[in-house]
Amino acid sequence: MIVVGGSSSRDMAKELARLLGCKYVQAATTRFPDGECYTRIEDDGMDDDVVIVQNTYPDENVVEMFLLQDAVKRLGAKTITCVIPYYGYARQDRIFKPGEPESAKVMAQRLEMLCDRVLTVDIHKENVLRWFECPAKNISASKAIGDYFRDRGIDMVLSPDIGAAGRAEEVAGYIGVPHDHLEKVRLSGTDVRITPANMDCAGKHVLIVDDIIATGGTILAACEQLRNQNVASISVACTHGVFAKNALERLTGGNIDSLLCCNTLENEVSNISVAPLVAEAIEKGW
Ligand code: R5P
Repeated sequence: MIVVGGSSSRDMAKELARLLGCKYVQAATTRFPDGECYTRIEDDGMDDDVVIVQNTYPDENVVEMFLLQDAVKRLGAKTITCVIPYYGYARQDRIFKPGEPESAKVMAQRLEMLCDRVLTVDIHKENVLRWFECPAKNISASKAIGDYFRDRGIDMVLSPDIGAAGRAEEVAGYIGVPHDHLEKVRLSGTDVRITPANMDCAGKHVLIVDDIIATGGTILAACEQLRNQNVASISVACTHGVFAKNALERLTGGNIDSLLCCNTLENEVSNISVAPLVAEAIEKGW
C-alpha cells in the first residue's frame, strides 16, 4: 500500500503511512499564476493499492483530488482509496428550495469516478454516503477526542444542540463522565440562541463538543450561556475546525479556556489526530 498526501492533509497522510507501515508520497502541488492547480506524483512506483488523503474543502482542494486520482491511476495504481478527512458540501444534502442543486450528491458522483472506496471522518450527514456506488464508510472522531481529554479534569461533556447529543454521549463515555445537551435555535447564518442544559453545570469543568466550528457563533453562544451558570472552566473540541473568517481569533479571545480540533483540517489548534482511527478502518477494510 502507498499513501499519497494531497496538499490539504500532509501531516495526517504522513502519520497514516507511518501507522500502516507503508510508503508515503507527497503530491507536489502548486498553483499556476492564474490560480489553477498543478500537481505531480514524483514517484513512478504506484503499482500498488493507493490511498489518497485529501479534503474536498475548500473548492480548490476538490480539483486537486480529481487530478490526484487521475495521476495515480496513470502511474498504475491497482486500487484507489480516497480518505476525505473533511467532506465539503455534506450540509447541502437535499433540495431545501426549488432551483437548488443536490450538492452532496453531485460531489459523490464526481468523486467516485476513479476511486474504488471512500472513507470520511464525521461527515456532517452520513446519509450522503448513499450517493456513492463504491463502498463508502464514515468513522467517528469521538474516540480520539475522548482519549485526548481522559484524565484532564473534565467533569461533564455537553453538546451545543440536540443534533450533537450522540457525539457528547460517545465522548463522555470514553472519558467516563456524564453528558447533556444545550438547546440551540439558529437565528441567522452567524447568530444562534442557546438555552441551558438540564444538568447543573455550576462549578464544573465542562467540555463542549461539536462536529464543525464554522463561524464560531454556536460555540460562543454556548459559552456565554455556561458562564452565566458559573462553570469552573470551558474546554471546546470539535472534529472539523473550519474557522471561517476570523472565527479562531473570536473564539480564542473569548470565554474559552482551551480550544482544540482534530487534524481533519490542519491548523494551529488541530492537535487531536484521527490518523490512528483512519489506519484502523483501512486495516479492517469495508
Ligand atoms: C450544526 O448542525 C453543526 O453541528 C455546527 O453546530 C454548526 O455547523 C456550527 O456552525 P457555526 O460555528 O457557524 O455556528
